Amino acid sequence: MNNQKDIVAGLGEIGLPIFKLLSKSQIVVGYDTNPKLMNKKEFDKYQDLDTTFLHICIPFSNKFQSSVKSLFRKFSPDCIVIHSTVSPYTTKKLQSSLKNVPIIFSATRGVHKRMIRDLRRYTKFFAIEKNAPNAKLISNKFSRLMKRCGVKTKKMSDPLTLELAKLIVDTSYYGWLINYAQMSKTIAIKHGIDYDEMWSFSDEIHKFLGNRPKLFPGFIGGHCVIPNLSLINEETLWEIDNINNSFSKKAKNVKSRNKRFHKSK
Ligand SMILES: NC(=O)c1ccc[n+]([C@@H]2O[C@H](COP(=O)([O-])OP(=O)(O)OC[C@H]3O[C@@H](n4cnc5c(N)ncnc54)[C@H](O)[C@@H]3O)[C@@H](O)[C@H]2O)c1
Repeated sequence: MNNQKDIVAGLGEIGLPIFKLLSKSQIVVGYDTNPKLMNKKEFDKYQDLDTTFLHICIPFSNKFQSSVKSLFRKFSPDCIVIHSTVSPYTTKKLQSSLKNVPIIFSATRGVHKRMIRDLRRYTKFFAIEKNAPNAKLISNKFSRLMKRCGVKTKKMSDPLTLELAKLIVDTSYYGWLINYAQMSKTIAIKHGIDYDEMWSFSDEIHKFLGNRPKLFPGFIGGHCVIPNLSLINEETLWEIDNINNSFSKKAKNVKSRNKRFHKSK
């Protein structure tokens, strides 16, 4: 413990677990535009302490940059850490307008219902722009902070790689795999065969080569995979949303057609 504090801005599904994790190793206060989520007493108690890290855990929107800038003006931290999922080039744009404060981008992985466990078991990747002030010093400080919280870190060469990694090889890739499950399920229903039995043909190959994952053919809901498509806005990736939407319609239609067909036999 020292005479500085960290601030977590946005006390939602990732902000709250990050707050809990940090609070084990140092003074941390939470801030949210929804006052009901804040502990006002604690917030006021540490008002006069300087802020080391300002942890950004707010959803991405077209107001994201202006929100981060106003949070920076409000708290004057030594460093900003963005844990949110963001559009490519967000860190670069923010760093070029907030020249005097280093900005770390550290994408968050995990599922909200077990977020603390996931934060601890997955390495927290992070990256910082080369022209950020004190980039090396602040990177080491962030790694040490995470280590004190029981979180491993790995530094990537630049924030853009990590911004794209979160969207391309995490959430969209997951959606793409579910799409294949949806398509193969639709075909299985159409021909009246058992989905799991069909997929058992791939089990051994997957076991030995790891390249035939079988996913559950459900509808992709939630607020990750599909909303994140608009952050990357790549025409090809919008197919994930199209296939997902047509799955929900087709699966229903094919099921009722099959029922009618079998009844008439
Ligand atoms: N939920 C997850 O499992 C998960 C996993 C990985 C990444 N993420 C990413 O984390 C980010 C946050 O997601 P979440 O699920 O925690 O959102 P959430 O909606 O659960 O919480 C966001 C919180 O931020 C507050 N907020 C909004 N604007 C603010 C501002 N300007 N200042 C202070 N507080 C503000 C809201 O009132 C809300 O309480 C998103 O970018 C999301 O994509 C979420």
